Amino acid sequence: MNVAGIDFGTTNSSVALQTGDARIELASFTFLGSETLSSRSVLYFEQSRAAGGMKRTHGLSGSAAIERYLESDEKGRLIQSMKSHLTSRSLTGTEVFGRRHRLEELISRILSDLRKQAEKQFARQIVNAVVGRPVHFVGAETDEDDDFAVARMREALQLAGFERVEFELEPVAAAYTYESALDHDEVILIGDFGGGTSDFTLLPLGPEARKRSHGSREMLGYSGVGVAGDAFDARIVKKLVSPALGSNSEARSLNKILPAVPAWIYANLERWHHLSFLRTNNVREILRSARVRALEPEKIEALIAIVEQDLGYQLHQAVQRVKFALSQHESAEFRFHDGGLDLRIPVTRREFEAWIAEDLKAIEASIDSLLRAAGISPRDVDRVFLTGGSSFVPAVRRIFSCRFGKERIRGGHEFTSVAQGLALRAQQNCDAP
Ligand SMILES: Nc1ncnc2c1ncn2[C@@H]1O[C@H](COP(=O)(O)OP(=O)(O)OP(=O)(O)O)[C@@H](O)[C@H]1O
Ligand SMILES: [Mg+2]
Repeated sequence: MNVAGIDFGTTNSSVALQTGDARIELASFTFLGSETLSSRSVLYFEQSRAAGGMKRTHGLSGSAAIERYLESDEKGRLIQSMKSHLTSRSLTGTEVFGRRHRLEELISRILSDLRKQAEKQFARQIVNAVVGRPVHFVGAETDEDDDFAVARMREALQLAGFERVEFELEPVAAAYTYESALDHDEVILIGDFGGGTSDFTLLPLGPEARKRSHGSREMLGYSGVGVAGDAFDARIVKKLVSPALGSNSEARSLNKILPAVPAWIYANLERWHHLSFLRTNNVREILRSARVRALEPEKIEALIAIVEQDLGYQLHQAVQRVKFALSQHESAEFRFHDGGLDLRIPVTRREFEAWIAEDLKAIEASIDSLLRAAGISPRDVDRVFLTGGSSFVPAVRRIFSCRFGKERIRGGHEFTSVAQGLALRAQQNCDAP
């Protein structure tokens, strides 16, 4: 039937397809020489000079975008976490090298490249898809906001060449993946922790539940919140990186002591792909004058180096590295070694957990409201399945071990469970009478 499962994630995207018999296969991508089963949800635009001196803009997506960005001397524009802007009515698009691109067009570029890669690998045309969506998109305050985001996704899919598209909740898709290995029935709570959103669903799964369903599954409930890995990164920038770049530093101005650099400049660092917006004359002037007056001029100097050399991506990578290290170890070192800078800052997991405490609370509230609304006590949940990249964070896992006990928690397929489940769902649609 060639109905692909498409997980367009805030950070990573994957495609899965039923190929032979009941087998689901994932499209593979190459990133810096290694094979991966997901592609980064990023775009990169650069300009080249064509014959006759005319400038031409060239766009790339996924791994190719990052590879090109890293190898080019004169950096173009990297755009990421586009999914998190889908609810914003004010963000209609962005200008790149003097041309306006609508958000739907930008996203369609990623979706179209994913489709082409899958078509090439599976040697068949793919125009139908089951596509994942979070329970609530980042920034959604009402159902209308979520509907608005879905409509924009639908348009992006259409622009990318998809004809028939159905949406499924991402945690429900992850549930199908978990179910594919089950030989008995269970009531299961799924937690999918990504870059933009944390999503939950509670439902009975297994061979009997599947037989009973006749195509439409019995759901006990779902919930979600627009807080996940990107929010954790922003906390690391605010609490660890920005202070090293002078966010707490002061400057002498006449007889007063004032913050050296206005806070809004650091807010742009928290969303690293906004960093390139700081290369303006206005910001240059603010930073130059701050460097002269600052009581810690070396910190402002470091900030200037990062802004001038457009090191947002490298900074973000350093933040990712320290976050990943803290998933494994009780302490780690933030290390940024680029553009003539060598920043090293020790950090403990305990500190990181204190920085993300509010985010963890929002996640806990979402899980508790789901259980309450479903009228299910944690005792009645047989198993918890945690997936998505941010499920590696120990404090996230602890939320579940406290409520359900370690022995009931399972995890796996962190970056592929949603795409795989969407393809399973596509298959079950076809099998349904
Ligand atoms: N070992 C790790 N420890 C902590 N965080 C991690 C780890 N590995 C990946 N992450 C985080 O997981 C997130 C990406 O996960 P994933 O690919 O599941 O998200 P996504 O599907 O793109 O996003 P969403 O589902 O919200 O749209 C990123 O924020 C990344 O930093
Ligand atoms: Mg995801």
